[in-house]
Amino acid sequence: MALSPQWLDELRARITLSSVIMRTTKLQKSGHEWKACCPFHDEKSPSFTVSDQKGFYHCFGCGAHGDAIRWMTDQRGLQFMDAVKELASEAGLEVPAADPRAAQIAEERAGLHDVMQAAQDWFETRLASADGSGAREYLKSRGFDAHTIKRFGFGFAPDERQAMKAALGQFDEPMLIEGGLRIAVDEKEPYDRFRARLMLPIQDARGRVIAFGGRILESGTKAPKYLNSPDTPLFDKGRTLYNLHRAGPASRQTGRIVVVEGYMDVIALAAAGMEDAVAPLGTALTERQIELLWRLVERPILCFDGDAAGQRAAMRAVTRALPMLKPAHSLAIATLPVGVDPDDLLRQKGRGALEAILADAASLLDTLWEYERDLQPLRSPEDKAGLKARLIDHIDTIQHPDIRALYKRELLERFSEFAFPPRPPRPRREWKPGFQQKAANPTITPDASSRLRRSSEGGARDELAAAVIFGLARFPDQILRHAEALGRFAEHDRRTGPAIDSLMDAAEMLEPSDKSPISVPHGTIAPPDNTRFAFLNEGIDPIAAHDDLAEAVSLLVERPALEAALAAATARFETDPEGAFVEQQRLLKRKLEFEQRLGQMASKRAARAAQSISDRTNPLPAGADGSDEKETD
Ligand code: UTP
Ligand code: MN
Repeated sequence: MALSPQWLDELRARITLSSVIMRTTKLQKSGHEWKACCPFHDEKSPSFTVSDQKGFYHCFGCGAHGDAIRWMTDQRGLQFMDAVKELASEAGLEVPAADPRAAQIAEERAGLHDVMQAAQDWFETRLASADGSGAREYLKSRGFDAHTIKRFGFGFAPDERQAMKAALGQFDEPMLIEGGLRIAVDEKEPYDRFRARLMLPIQDARGRVIAFGGRILESGTKAPKYLNSPDTPLFDKGRTLYNLHRAGPASRQTGRIVVVEGYMDVIALAAAGMEDAVAPLGTALTERQIELLWRLVERPILCFDGDAAGQRAAMRAVTRALPMLKPAHSLAIATLPVGVDPDDLLRQKGRGALEAILADAASLLDTLWEYERDLQPLRSPEDKAGLKARLIDHIDTIQHPDIRALYKRELLERFSEFAFPPRPPRPRREWKPGFQQKAANPTITPDASSRLRRSSEGGARDELAAAVIFGLARFPDQILRHAEALGRFAEHDRRTGPAIDSLMDAAEMLEPSDKSPISVPHGTIAPPDNTRFAFLNEGIDPIAAHDDLAEAVSLLVERPALEAALAAATARFETDPEGAFVEQQRLLKRKLEFEQRLGQMASKRAARAAQSISDRTNPLPAGADGSDEKETD
């Protein structure tokens, strides 16, 4: 089977070499490249380098050198065709069938490149001709200088239906149609796609013209502002970034790549001396485009309008990127003033203003957090649970286990701080007979303890409430963090409320630095079964315990609301059987989810116990310090 050089180029272009090599060899980032101890010879200091930009690995020690295919044959020991097939299936490329048509298709593509270049030359001459005066005026009105106009290849498509066919007479009609330049409908005479438009060539990473965008000159007409080429054998808009062939090299100088929404923005940036900008082609950023960007820099900056639509677009990019995140790779989100695109901003305020906004771009995590946090006010436990569920849904899409765990920790911590801010000091209640503030190292006073005993008559058999109370006593520095939620809960829970109140009183007297446990008075609350709750486990890491405890508190405070709503729905059965039924089903489902979360706390505890046993038997995983890692398979 003959694989054409073009096809192999495409395969190499779609594969990120480092991600292939990383599967069997530990790589370390070094500037734009990667370093490792060479897997082809024995060495102590790394002389093996991998360049994703060049698509090659090279060892300065033993001279091993090659691309992704060579790696698969030489290091992984595959046959050439098997290596190609494996890489192609990863890249979503079909290996050309073993028939002579493959060569023919490659030839046709080469022919199409000629067609597109001829069309580009023609559009440029039309812009310079008498026909093009309106378009030239328009360009002047937008303030583009002659150098920029030439460099970006602006052209003009005249308002005629057959002009292109005449001008490109050396090519057969089917090629003009295949290239997206002419439109054929049914039996009718084909006609030129682009008419009366300012034309912009869209180029591939090597700078070859593969498509066009055409802009109308007058506003207020019914026609769409931009008309783009359809997908063709040369042009796949989800895999193309406008201006990549210039921005790629520029990004090596600046260490930055900026993604804006429109072609005109890219051009305005370049005219202002910022060459490192690209744009998708009228669609939301695709996975493939994110991968292309990550080959250039680790943290591309995406620019969005500050209005609601812009922020939704930013979230689309964020959710697209989450599953793809890998160590050191992320996105940054820059927010423009409402209703202003980068082109406008440059014209109104100059380059400095845009540079400042780019420098101030938010992290992906901050963008995600702020968007979800501000989506709805948190007025009830249900709202809080809703925010938490949305955060968890995002976290669950992250494929990389370390990144997922780190996002989880950070977002849930922010959630707790936001949903349960430290409670303002509570006014002392009159019914607190003889309560004395004393004890530098506070425990619950005898007064409080007798009060507790009185009010918990009937016994607090409730496991969750008991676990929370014992957990808070064990980690008293966590009490104020949950004070607002606990305060509301305590007010309505006759059985455990007094115990919680006492703990909060005690916590208010603690020095901020004091983390030593305080005691729950003996006999007031039945101790919980501490095999069920990780935070009651002796050996637990305090940070993990704090998270678990926070989860238990949120479960505890959510429950009464859920139960009250269930009771209300049940009571409504008489008057509104249908509505009540639907509501009840919904609530029962939530209750089930609630029980599951409770169950998960138990299984988490079991997993932690197993982990801590294996940590003790096996204190340092082999190669954890990264010094002696040199794996091959
Ligand atoms: P904008 O309307 O923001 O474009 O659309 P712009 O670059 O600011 O255009 P000017 O400044 O009015 O000339 C952003 C991108 O969306 C796509 C184009 O790719 C455009 O660059 N688009 C927009 C279309 O494909 N069709 C349209 O009708 C409009
Ligand atoms: Mn614009």
